[in-house]
Amino acid sequence: AQPVIVAIDGPSGTGKSSTSKAVAAQLGLSYLDTGAQYRAITWWMVTSGIDIEDPTAIAAVAGKPEIVSGTDPLDPTISVDGTDVAAAIRTQEVTSQVSAVSAVPEVRSRITELQRSLAAAAEQGIVVEGRDIGTTVLPDADLKVFLTASAEARAARRSGELKGADVAATREALIKRDAADSSRKTSPLAKADDAVEVDTTELTLAQVIECVVTLVEEKR
Ligand code: C5P
Repeated sequence: AQPVIVAIDGPSGTGKSSTSKAVAAQLGLSYLDTGAQYRAITWWMVTSGIDIEDPTAIAAVAGKPEIVSGTDPLDPTISVDGTDVAAAIRTQEVTSQVSAVSAVPEVRSRITELQRSLAAAAEQGIVVEGRDIGTTVLPDADLKVFLTASAEARAARRSGELKGADVAATREALIKRDAADSSRKTSPLAKADDAVEVDTTELTLAQVIECVVTLVEEKR
């Protein structure tokens, strides 16, 4: 069979990662978490003492860190210059600064290039999740899905993940990050015209997975 390319986009807390990993595992495809790559370069910028408020400073060093993503959905790995950063990229410090770093065009162009080469190398095909996969990174994807959910549902899911985090505070932080991601100039968070929109507010994770698996099978 031809490799199948699946793009899954949407705001934070819609279940993109859980869905994408499960769909890839179920169908024997590779998996790429592009948010993890933006988090990894943000972690490197913060650790290197780069001023996050200064897009020129960020642009000047955007090509420096070596970011390596493992594409096994059962063991997705991420490293920067050989250091495993899987845990380090999930901190509040990185989360609150990732939108500023990922808005810089030089950051986006080099990460986009990485994403395209990983997608091209996936022999069976790949599920790529992010914000601009269907619109910019892989505009010729075989299937594009745009996941949405109410702000309440998204905040509740995220606070559940963060174990005991304040739902109201999580909701505010999510809304702020989505607003930043949607309003940036270079390849903002957006639904591609040919994407299938799935509102996950009233769906269980299992239902969302089943829905996307069915959509992929229809394309194969
Ligand atoms: O998906 P996740 O919440 O880990 O993404 C972290 C951040 O990375 C997003 O808020 C966004 O700023 C950035 N991102 C992006 N483009 C993508 C994926 C993520 O700009 N394709």
